[in-house]
Parts: sequence; structure tokens; C-alpha cells
Amino acid sequence: MRFTMETDEFALQQVDALLYEVLWEPYGMPNVRHQFDKGEAEIIFAAKDGITVAGAFVLIVYKDKSAELRHAAVLPEYQGQKTGRGLWNEVLEYIKAESINSIYVYARNTAIGFWEKIGFRVETDWIDHDFFANHGIRFKVMMFDIK
Ligand SMILES: CC(C)(COP(=O)(O)OP(=O)(O)OC[C@H]1O[C@@H](n2cnc3c(N)ncnc32)[C@H](O)[C@@H]1OP(=O)(O)O)[C@@H](O)C(=O)NCCC(=O)NCCS
Repeated sequence: MRFTMETDEFALQQVDALLYEVLWEPYGMPNVRHQFDKGEAEIIFAAKDGITVAGAFVLIVYKDKSAELRHAAVLPEYQGQKTGRGLWNEVLEYIKAESINSIYVYARNTAIGFWEKIGFRVETDWIDHDFFANHGIRFKVMMFDIK
């Protein structure tokens, strides 16, 4: 598995398809890939098995040098094989090199354990957004301390 900061147009199309397939389609939700954007620039990290995109993390860097992981997904057949951890390591290397101060994620209820495993800590109680709560998805903001 290779972990890269992705800029190739074909791979980025695969990333979009993967995010929909893993994050929204299984819940019968529409593709909300850009629904919550405010026009921020995205940095896409991809895990690639040959030419197949197996996973992707979407990073947003804010002007105050904080950052958000906006979307994070690994194809089911590549889950539980350190794909997510590999993507995180790539993100961590990048945010350290860019002197980012802090990074947070709106962690899904189903993924809290993953974020804890890689070193995030829970910052908030459950946050419910109608759009997601209707599908049984809840969130907690989780933070990672950058040393
Ligand atoms: C969450 C996700 C990105 C993790 O990627 P992954 O490749 O499956 O995770 P890894 O194999 O790198 O796991 C790293 C560690 O976290 C643990 N872990 C992974 N997913 C977990 C989960 N959902 N709950 C609890 N622990 C989890 C693994 O057991 C592993 O622990 P270990 O290092 O002690 O063996 C992936 O499972 C996924 O896409 N899930 C569905 C979509 C989703 O929930 N995305 C996150 C939205 S906030």
C-alpha cells in the first residue's frame, strides 16, 4: 500500500466515488461531499493499492494554522489492515512539516475507537445534526495534540 498526497485527476475522481460509497451510500444518503464546504482548499491523502484507491482522508488547513480532517474513509475490503493508520501517519507528517497547531475531526459514533487508537481525544459530548441523526450517525469533536 502506498500513501500519498494526491493530485492526479483520475485518482481524485476515485476518491470522490470512494467517499460516497463508504460514508453516505450505505445509509441511503445523497452524496454530501461538498454540502458543508465553505470553499476551503482541500488536501487529499490517498492510500493506493496499485492504481486502486483504497482509502482517503480530506484535510482542510485554516488561516490560524489549525486543521480539520473533513472526511475519512477506507473501502470495506481494506479496513482493519492499517490503511487508516497509514493515511493518518501521512497526514501527521504533513501537518508537522507545516507547523499546524492543532487538528480536529467530527468523529462518527462508529469510528470513535479508531480516532482514540491513533491518539485523538474526545473534546465534546454527542453532537446531533438532523441530516445524520436520522440515519443513526452522531458525532463527537476529537482533537489531536501536535507535539
Ligand atoms: C474508520 C476507518 C477510516 C479506519 O480505517 P481502517 O483502515 O479500518 O483502520 P486501521 O486498520 O488503520 O486501524 C487502526 C486501529 O484502529 C482500530 N479501529 C479501526 N476502526 C475502528 C473502529 N471503527 N472502532 C474501533 N477501533 C477501530 C483497529 O482495530 C486498529 O487497532 P490496532 O492498531 O490496535 O490493531 C475505516 O474503518 C472506515 O472507513 N470506516 C467507515 C467510515 C468511517 O467511519 N469513517 C470515519 C468517519 S469520522
